[in-house]
Amino acid sequence: MSARVCFVVGARPNFMKSAPVYRELGALDPSLELTLLHTGQHYDDAMSDVFFRELAMPRPDEFLAVGSGSHAEQTAKALVGVERALRERQIDLCVVAGDVNSTLAGALAAVKLGIPIAHIESGLRSFDRAMPEEHNRVLTDHLSDLLLAHSEEAITNLQREGITSGVHLVGNTMIDSLVALEDRFRGLGACAGHGLEAGSYLLVTLHRPALVDGPLLDAAIAALAAVSESMPVLFPVHPRTRAALGGAAAGLPPGLQLTDPVGYLEFLSLEADARAVLTDSGGIQEEATYLGVPCFTLRDNTERPITVEHGTNRLLGLDPKRIEEVPGLVSEAAGTAPEPPPLWDGHAAERLARVVADRHAC
Ligand code: UD1
Ligand code: UDP
Repeated sequence: MSARVCFVVGARPNFMKSAPVYRELGALDPSLELTLLHTGQHYDDAMSDVFFRELAMPRPDEFLAVGSGSHAEQTAKALVGVERALRERQIDLCVVAGDVNSTLAGALAAVKLGIPIAHIESGLRSFDRAMPEEHNRVLTDHLSDLLLAHSEEAITNLQREGITSGVHLVGNTMIDSLVALEDRFRGLGACAGHGLEAGSYLLVTLHRPALVDGPLLDAAIAALAAVSESMPVLFPVHPRTRAALGGAAAGLPPGLQLTDPVGYLEFLSLEADARAVLTDSGGIQEEATYLGVPCFTLRDNTERPITVEHGTNRLLGLDPKRIEEVPGLVSEAAGTAPEPPPLWDGHAAERLARVVADRHAC
């Protein structure tokens, strides 16, 4: 009988990491029965559906409608829903990606049913236990059978925790999604739709609880307003951040534009044409490195040091005042666009699919 493989996704960054793997696995071994399970952690069109359309992902076989809530509520609802679906569908392998609550719920549901787990983007560590994602990363890796790493440093992290078997260096599947759409977003010129010229503006995304769920967000907006006097700023606002903004979003200078989250193609176009990016996103640090766009990360640490050592990323620290330094730092960064890290080449999902298919050749 053919093996049944279930992909569990739920939040924005899951979609671009999983889509190429789903596609490659289906192409490599058509005898596999693939299921796509969406927990519903993210549910707005701009946080979910748009990615299915633009990444040409099939509609999920099931949508669990877990929605928002505390960590316990969200993870528990996803755990219950995923467990039922894995059992009913008699799944043989569960594939999870990244470090969100849906990732941990998928892995935990699977391991309790004795179903092997493949973890895409295994081995990343910020070494910051105050970050909710760090628990999800550590726990998911310790539950997984196939640990699919995008860099050597991820493998070193796993070895440090005693995880040595089932580890495979495959490369970065999120970059596969970017590469697959490069012909489409390169010519898009999405910045013109926001009244901006390519190469002139700072693209901003900020959504980490450490920044937005406290007093630092207002200070960040004030610093962005100051930057916008010398460099236009475009800030597609994550719903967590929108909810926290309140009055700080009113009376902004004309150079600082806040928009709703944008679709993937539009975002990649905006990113590729930006003068620089300011972010606390994990994935955007990687995309900026691939695109060779200067990236400033408003965090004290990163689980992706390869983007600092090998790419365009620079850690500013969790200090909104430092945002005001960005225009000067961008000038210093001019002309330094290193090669992408090894295996961030658009073919990671092919390598990953081969690892999975080999395991199921039994
Ligand atoms: C989650 C992930 C984070 C990831 C981010 C990507 C966890 C613990 N966190 O954070 O690692 O970087 O996704 O974007 O899994 N909301 C909406 N519409 C939506 C989704 C969310 O309005 O479609 C709002 C709700 O008010 C919700 C808040 O955003 O309470 C936060 O959503 P949640 O999924 O809990 O966490 P994120 O901050 O999105
Ligand atoms: N992204 C997008 N539209 C936006 C902001 C981000 O399509 O308005 C994409 C971005 O290109 C990247 C991914 O979302 O592929 C990153 O997700 P996010 O920052 O939400 O999560 P993180 O990577 O921090 O977990």
